[in-house]
Formats: sequence, C-alpha cells, structure tokens
Amino acid sequence: MTVLLSSMADSAPGAQRDVNPRAVRAAEGMARPAADISIVVPCYNERANVRPLVAALSVALKGREWEVIFVDDNSPDGTIDEIRALAEMDARVRGILRIGRRGLSSAVIEGVLSSSAPIVAVMDGDMQHDESCLGALIDAVARDGYDIAVGSRHVPGGDNAGLANGWRTFLSDAGIRLVQTLMPVRLSDPMSGFFAMRRDLFEHAVPRLSGTGFKILLDVFLSAAERPRVLEVPFIFRPRVAGESKLDLLVLLQFMAMMLDKFCRGFLPIRFLGFCLVGLVGILVNLAVLGIARRCGVGFAEGQGIGTLVAMVANFWMNNALTYRDCRLRGGRMWGGLVLFLLICSVGAVADIGIARAIFRSDGQWDQAGAAGAAIAVVWNYAVSSTLIWRVR
Ligand code: GDD
Ligand code: MN
Repeated sequence: MTVLLSSMADSAPGAQRDVNPRAVRAAEGMARPAADISIVVPCYNERANVRPLVAALSVALKGREWEVIFVDDNSPDGTIDEIRALAEMDARVRGILRIGRRGLSSAVIEGVLSSSAPIVAVMDGDMQHDESCLGALIDAVARDGYDIAVGSRHVPGGDNAGLANGWRTFLSDAGIRLVQTLMPVRLSDPMSGFFAMRRDLFEHAVPRLSGTGFKILLDVFLSAAERPRVLEVPFIFRPRVAGESKLDLLVLLQFMAMMLDKFCRGFLPIRFLGFCLVGLVGILVNLAVLGIARRCGVGFAEGQGIGTLVAMVANFWMNNALTYRDCRLRGGRMWGGLVLFLLICSVGAVADIGIARAIFRSDGQWDQAGAAGAAIAVVWNYAVSSTLIWRVR
C-alpha cells in the first residue's frame, strides 16, 4: 500500500501537493507490523490524562510494537474526542466508545477482546500506574514464560502512597486480606489494576468472569481454569494529578457482590441476589409507610396501597442505582422504566396472590402457599425487568 501510494505520488506531476497526508499516514499505519502488545486503558472522565499517557507510553515502550486501546463509557468531559484526535495522528492509538454502559471491569473485558496481540496489559488512564514498569511486566510474560505479571504495591520496592486518604488505605488493606483467603495463588496485591497477561488465557476466562465493579485482575484469578504462573513486579502507585477517582460506596458493594458470586460459584446470578435483597428492603419500606399511615389515622386499605406504591418506587430507584448500575437509566428513559416497573410488579403481585390462593386451596398450608406465590412473583419481576426495562445483554 505504501509502495503503491508513493509511486503514484512520484509519477504524477504536481502530485506532491495533492497527496492527502492523512491517507499517507493511514497507508503507513496499515503497513506497520501488528502490535505484539495491546495496552487496554479503561477511562471515564480522563480527558486531561489521555495525551500525557500516550506520550508516556511512547517513551516507556520505545523499540516495541504496541498499541493502546482506550475504552471510554461516553464520558461527559468528552474523553473520546481527545482519544480520536490522537488516533487520527497515531495508528497505535484506538478508542472504543460504549454508550449506555458503565463499569471498569466490563470496559477492560471489551478492550481485551477487541485486541489480537498475544499479550495484553491493563492499566488505569489517570497516570497513577507507573508506565516505566510496563516493560518488566511485558517481559515477564513475553520472555520469561509467566502467564500473568502483576504490578504490586505491596512487595519490596512498591508503594501505595497515591491512595487518596487513610480511609482508602484501610479499605484497600482490609479488602486484600479478605481476598487472599479465597485466592488460588498467593498474591500480595490481588486488587491491583495494573498487569500484563497472555491474551488467550484472558479470553478463556471471559465466560466465567463476573465483569462487575473494579477488580478485573481478581476476577480473572478467581475464574481461571488453571492455576496461572504469576510474577509480581513492584511499582509505586502515584497520586492522581488530574480528574478524580470513581471508586465510591457502590463500587465497594459491587466488590462484595462479586466475592459472593464467586463464593456461590456462579450458581445464583448475582444480579438476582441483588434484586431479592432490594425486594426485602422494599418490604421494610412498605411496613414503615403503613405504620406512619396508621398513626395518621389513614385506613388499612389506603395505607397499604400507599405503602405498596412507595415501596415499588423505592425498589425501582434502588435497582436502577445498584442492581442494574452498569445499565442505569437516566432522564426520560428512567421515567419510562419506572412506569413499566410499576406495571410489571403489579402483574407480579396479582400472580403472587393468585398462585398463593390456588396452592392454599389445595393443601391449606399458609406458609407454603405464601412463599410459593412470592417466589414466583419475584422471579417474574426479575426476569421481565431485566429484559424489558434494563435490557441486560
Ligand atoms: N470505561 C470506564 N468505565 N472506565 C472507568 C470506569 C467506568 O465505569 N470507572 C473507572 N474507570 C477508569 C478510570 O477513568 C481510571 O482510568 C481507571 O478506571 C481507574 O479508576 P479510578 O477511579 O482512578 O480508580 P482508583 O485510582 O480509585 O483505583 C484504581 O487503582 C487501584 C490500585 O491499583 C483501580 O484500578 C483499582 O481497581 C485498583 O485497585
Ligand atoms: Mn486512579
């Protein structure tokens, strides 16, 4: 391609002026050897960090064939525009834009799956991971036969100084201790988000990954078919310069959910457990509203009606924020979702009462009849909400 373009440019008179520099660059880009290493970078609101990161990678990976794949969840700050501006000039830069989705782990999974390099490295897009350690991580896999090389803050030479505050340090240490009890191999920093590994190994683990929250490395370890050969490489976790951390209470809840999921070995979908938990909170909300209504002198039927409505709205809100956080509805779609949720739950309630009555008529057992009705209603609510409201893929 390059040859063809340049020979055409050489022979045509005045062609030098007419050559489109972008076409030439693109042609040269296509003539480049394929990358040996794909660096996958999840990013959300990291506009200011994209350019410095690519510049830092260029220095750190000099002499290697690499590409960087940014996976952006439609950041409001326009991170993708910055990625595309760089990609136009540099064929090593690629961007994946995901719309209507959120999540660090799932972003990493999609980035890795889009690559064809034999080795993939994962790093944050906020300059907190020291790119000068990438070479050592890559060599451990490419040259020394390790399956995974992990950037660790907790081996001699590593440091966690960049964690935002003491509370984050405490959480991180407590989490690591909890996780180490479940790990198939001893790792000093299983919560690290900075690692390199064989792409085929990652790909094999994908069907078993829970893909929620922040802890993709841990997810890979807990889902790997075989015990991987691992090397830990020390690195210093730098403080953030631009932007802010996205790790919040909900991400911590997702972490707990992932651990529970692994503990149940995927037997029960974790989303379903979340949905049930939210349902239980809904019952408490219903009872609380009923109690208030009673004190205000409202009759039972009206009180229960208001209680049920408030509980359903609260359930919708909690499910939208927690259970289906990765495909959360906003704006007009959220209000449409709420109306649909109320309808689905009403059908569920009618089915609940109908089934419970039928079972009660046949065996006269209060508890069994009630539990069967409720169980069928919750499965109905979950299945239909997942497909029609949040459209889980
Ligand atoms: N696409 C996408 N979608 N990217 C995200 C999302 C998301 O929903 N949430 C966070 N990210 C990106 C951020 O933009 C950043 O590049 C990277 O993931 C890490 O997010 P931070 O919010 O900066 O996390 P942190 O610094 O508090 O924690 C990180 O470092 C720890 C130590 O290595 C994470 O990597 C942790 O998993 C890790 O334990
Ligand atoms: Mn960070």
